[in-house]
Amino acid sequence: MSESVSVLISEEELERKIDQIAGQINRDYAGRQLHLLCILKGSMFFTCELSKHLTMPVTIDCMAVASYGNDTARSGDIALTLDLSEPIAGKHVLVIEDIVDTGYTLSFLRKMLQKRNPASLKICTLLDKPERREVPVDVDYVGFQIPNEFVVGFGLDYAQKYRNLPYIGMLEIEEGE
Ligand code: IMP
Repeated sequence: MSESVSVLISEEELERKIDQIAGQINRDYAGRQLHLLCILKGSMFFTCELSKHLTMPVTIDCMAVASYGNDTARSGDIALTLDLSEPIAGKHVLVIEDIVDTGYTLSFLRKMLQKRNPASLKICTLLDKPERREVPVDVDYVGFQIPNEFVVGFGLDYAQKYRNLPYIGMLEIEEGE
């Protein structure tokens, strides 16, 4: 089997889009303190780059989820594998996600986080694959809508590889030697 990656979204396009999203967030949260929740590991790069462009006081926490479905995450098969280090009650929380696919992960996270009584709860995703959606999920900030392709890079992985690519690439796997 051989794997190859072709560029879907370049480093420059990512920089421009992240700057644009940060501009919207800066306007929407002006005068408030914002608590970013980075969903590990895929959102690491996006959270770092986005947070550098934010102008309000920002705090950052991380959490991780795992899905135990066959190939897609079913609602009941998602579990928290790393919880936040601090309570979110009374905070303006913005969840930072790498990609929305079926929607099960964010729908699980939204319900779980809402129960912890944040002052507000919004979601920001770098990528969105609308064709794959199985459950509706309200996303407040979306970077790019992409076709139904498996993508890697800028935090996203295939079998834990390719996270370090500075761009978003489409992964192709060819059967054979
Ligand atoms: P959902 O629960 O189906 O929306 O899946 C969201 C999670 O699946 C993301 O946070 C990613 O970890 C993973 N995922 C979905 N599509 C891709 C992809 O194209 N490349 C890498 N990971 C993906």
